[in-house]
Amino acid sequence: MGSPTELAAWQALTEHQKEMASVDMKSLFETDPQRAEKHTVQAAGWTLDYAKNRANEKTLSLLTSLVKEAGLENAIQGMFSGEHINNTEDRSVLHIALRASQAQESLMVDGVNVLEEVRATLKQMEAFTKQLHSGEWRGYSDKRITDVVSIGIGGSYLGPKVVAEALTPFSREDIKVHFVANIDGSDISGKLKQLNPETTLFVVSSKTFGTLETLSNANAARDWFLSNGGSEETISKHFAAVSSNVEKAVSFGMAAENIFPMWDWVGGRYSLWSAIGLPVAIAVGMDKFYELLDGAYQMDEHFRTAPFEKNLPVIMGALGVWYINFHNAQTHALIPYDHYLRAMPAHIQQLDMESNGKANLLDGDGVATDTGPIIWGGAGTNGQHAYHQLLHQGTRLVPVDFIAPLKSHNPIGDHHPQLFANCLSQSQALMVGKSLEQAKQELRDAGASDEQVELVAPHKVIKGNRPSNMLLTEQMTPATVGALIALYEHRTFVQGTIWGINSFDQWGVELGKVLGTDIFNRLVSDSDNSALDSSTQALIEAFKKAQS
Ligand code: F6P
Repeated sequence: MGSPTELAAWQALTEHQKEMASVDMKSLFETDPQRAEKHTVQAAGWTLDYAKNRANEKTLSLLTSLVKEAGLENAIQGMFSGEHINNTEDRSVLHIALRASQAQESLMVDGVNVLEEVRATLKQMEAFTKQLHSGEWRGYSDKRITDVVSIGIGGSYLGPKVVAEALTPFSREDIKVHFVANIDGSDISGKLKQLNPETTLFVVSSKTFGTLETLSNANAARDWFLSNGGSEETISKHFAAVSSNVEKAVSFGMAAENIFPMWDWVGGRYSLWSAIGLPVAIAVGMDKFYELLDGAYQMDEHFRTAPFEKNLPVIMGALGVWYINFHNAQTHALIPYDHYLRAMPAHIQQLDMESNGKANLLDGDGVATDTGPIIWGGAGTNGQHAYHQLLHQGTRLVPVDFIAPLKSHNPIGDHHPQLFANCLSQSQALMVGKSLEQAKQELRDAGASDEQVELVAPHKVIKGNRPSNMLLTEQMTPATVGALIALYEHRTFVQGTIWGINSFDQWGVELGKVLGTDIFNRLVSDSDNSALDSSTQALIEAFKKAQS
């Protein structure tokens, strides 16, 4: 397809935005007592209340037309049937195959039943985690493994780390999982200081097995192991790998039987459901890992089959486009009111920004619209004492997704009702705001002079009418966490489809990698840098001087 701006629904939305510019969300609630009920949908253990959006029936109907005109139905069909929808890399996009129901017998891709490969790998993970948990797997000095360090970066790090953290209440006590990602030596050094090589196992996760950070950290781990009692002969008791490049993993020194496969048709940022999720399975057990997959599968089925008007990823994706393209929203905030989900915005940030940070349509032409927003956020209530000021009174429109469990895993005192009250009150405050008259009255009631009232009242005005979604679940469990992440994966796909871009490549990260290698070579040699810009030359010199 071409530019979405050519679509009739896009043009109608452009006109409709003018009608909506003066509509206050509060009036939508006043005129329709059923608004909340009408704008609440449920799937896979999650309830989405999207009533607090600048959207009336016409808006929603036009947005549904937009996704239809953009070809979402075909796109979903293409994804689930294994078509090469990642057109620039000529690949299928099949994270959904990683969590397909056992009832599905086959999913043929290029003549191969990928479900057989997926299930064989799950069995391999099952056997491996069982050996670790039972203590059958021993280190070189015959002690059981107590610590597992996952080494990876990007999608080979964020997804597993965020899920392992989200599932802390389900973590096993007999084994601890750690994560190392950064090329900054402080990351791995800090971890190694806490560990005993006799009882530590490293899982090196890299789809390509060619990523600088991961290979450097894996080498550092191996050196540490070898210089602290380990030997080449016992490496296989302490190192495993997850990669689609088995040859490279073997030439790194990994024992072939300790290598877990993954495939070209899984994008890094969509890979936590594959053996890249091994650290999660180690932390919580394979049973819980299967529950995580099942939660994601429930969301997949909802996405694939529910009518667009009742479809969570479609509604959230389309509303996002409404704000990005018709209200000039530049960013989108995710605010989980759940301590264990505190790192989730970082995972969704990679998922969404690496997927939809694109400026070309599928056919290579430049886009005529804005595409993926800046995704950011953090845990509530912490953010209320940091960036919520800008959400309420800043000049930018920031749509927010609030995410909260109804029940806590740690129900002490009034903590949970207080936490939940804050979550609800933030979404309410964003919508209702505070008028000048209310601000003045508040000051008068507090005994302020007329002069103070005039001076301070404008600063207390909160315009309100700021949109948010509320995503609620009974409790954070492996299944609901799985469904939540799958929801955001599909939301990303919905938006990419509307914009007509390929959400599944990431060519933009390559230039920095190439230049990084070039600069590294200059930092460690006496190269002639005179052809470089003067800024880069001076910065290289500053680094070299500091090392001498
Ligand atoms: O540089 C970006 C990226 O390719 C991500 O897409 C990916 O998740 C990450 O690097 C890690 O890649 P790999 O798993 O191949 O080490």
